[in-house]
Amino acid sequence: MTRNNKTPKFPENFLWGGAIAANQAEGAWNVDGKGVAITDVVRGGIVAGAADEHVIEGENYPSHEAIDFYHRYKEDIALFAEMGMKCFRTSIAWTRIFPNGDEEEPNEKGLQFYDALFDELLKYGIEPVITLSHYETPLHLVNEYGGWTNRKLIGFFENYCRVVFSRYKDKVKFWLTFNEINNLHTIPYAAGAIRISNEDNKLQEIYQAAHHLFVANATVTKLCHEIIPDAKIGCMLTLSTATVYPNTPNPDDVFAAYELQRRSLFFSDVMLRGYYPSYVKRIWKENNIQVQMADGDLDMIMENTSDFLGCSYYKSSIFQANMSAEGNTGGILGLDNPYLEKTEWGWGIDAKGARYVFNAVYDRYQKPLLIVENGYGGVDHFNENGEIVDDARISFLNKHLIEISNAIEDGVEILGYTWWGPIDIVSAGTGEMKKRYGFIYVDKDNKGEGTLNRYKKKSFDWYKKIIETNGGILFD
Ligand code: BG6
Repeated sequence: MTRNNKTPKFPENFLWGGAIAANQAEGAWNVDGKGVAITDVVRGGIVAGAADEHVIEGENYPSHEAIDFYHRYKEDIALFAEMGMKCFRTSIAWTRIFPNGDEEEPNEKGLQFYDALFDELLKYGIEPVITLSHYETPLHLVNEYGGWTNRKLIGFFENYCRVVFSRYKDKVKFWLTFNEINNLHTIPYAAGAIRISNEDNKLQEIYQAAHHLFVANATVTKLCHEIIPDAKIGCMLTLSTATVYPNTPNPDDVFAAYELQRRSLFFSDVMLRGYYPSYVKRIWKENNIQVQMADGDLDMIMENTSDFLGCSYYKSSIFQANMSAEGNTGGILGLDNPYLEKTEWGWGIDAKGARYVFNAVYDRYQKPLLIVENGYGGVDHFNENGEIVDDARISFLNKHLIEISNAIEDGVEILGYTWWGPIDIVSAGTGEMKKRYGFIYVDKDNKGEGTLNRYKKKSFDWYKKIIETNGGILFD
């Protein structure tokens, strides 16, 4: 076949799909033996909201019902299949399998739920892509152990992974360890199950937790390869926090942006290359950080690197010297970029940023990427004909896919693309239903009211066509 501008730029076996997380979709928060996860006590989102120490009666916790995927997954998967999805990413709620996290024996009811869920996907030939921990550490492990700052969590996580690898070894061949592990700096409660009580000690706690997460990542990578030799297991980072542009050509701003990018890629530097990069020694020294390591940790990390880089990408940011590097689920809260349009939540739409960062990480690691989150959160309305015409979402999708195809042409190995929230779910950052990502609308509002009925938006048929043509329609 002669290649030309119209030739689809996606490989034949490209994994087109969608992605959600258990805590944002399943609901049924205390059903069939499930324990309380850190997100089950969050009111108002993991970025904007409060995280209680236990569930307070009468409060509104969005994850408690979410979109009731727990009971409606068959209907939803039938719609995903209608779109032609080749894969579907979700997470296992750790608390369905080990309600407190430190038990020795798993909860059989929880295991049965995921058996049924994966069977339903496989029935349609949809490959499950499974995150082991998507901001869903059991709350008990925070309250009793202090979250990932405590080394004991490595063992608890290993036990949980051993159970799910053994149980689902014939059903799941793509695994991801910790969702957006590099959000430890910006959202430590979600990414590391850490409640920062003393800001002065924050960096110490973050780097100690990171070390435990790295050892856990390596330990379960090894385990996965032993139990499921034909599986691939990746780490997962937000690449939004790595898409950082300097505000001016002032070398001070350029270096500040570079250091911030490196703060983000530090995590993949360790998990993909297998060793601590030299630059971190200076950061530890200057901040008086002592990371406790056990004998064998560094070998474990070196010998068990991730097979691929799972990543999310939503937006870029602009940074300058002497600026604080706070962030949210979309990335770094940087300065305004006058060249970009924004979503209704103020996230700059930067499709070229995707091409930039995917190239940058591929240059750095030469390991395949699996893009497991990219999406457009906006408000949707039914028009007078009862339709949702979500052209802004379609435009975001098209622009990003074209740049992803450019990255593929640039030589970046990309295994697949899962749109974030193919069905409306609860926003992680703000806890809202109003911030919708879906190709499928769910009738539920911010107050928790609605029928939970599902409706197709205009983007539903468009994504279906994209998949059907393997991206070809983008170039017509
Ligand atoms: C990512 C998270 O940071 O961003 C998801 O992995 C999240 O859980 C997504 O939903 C979008 O963020 P938000 O805040 O709009 O839901």
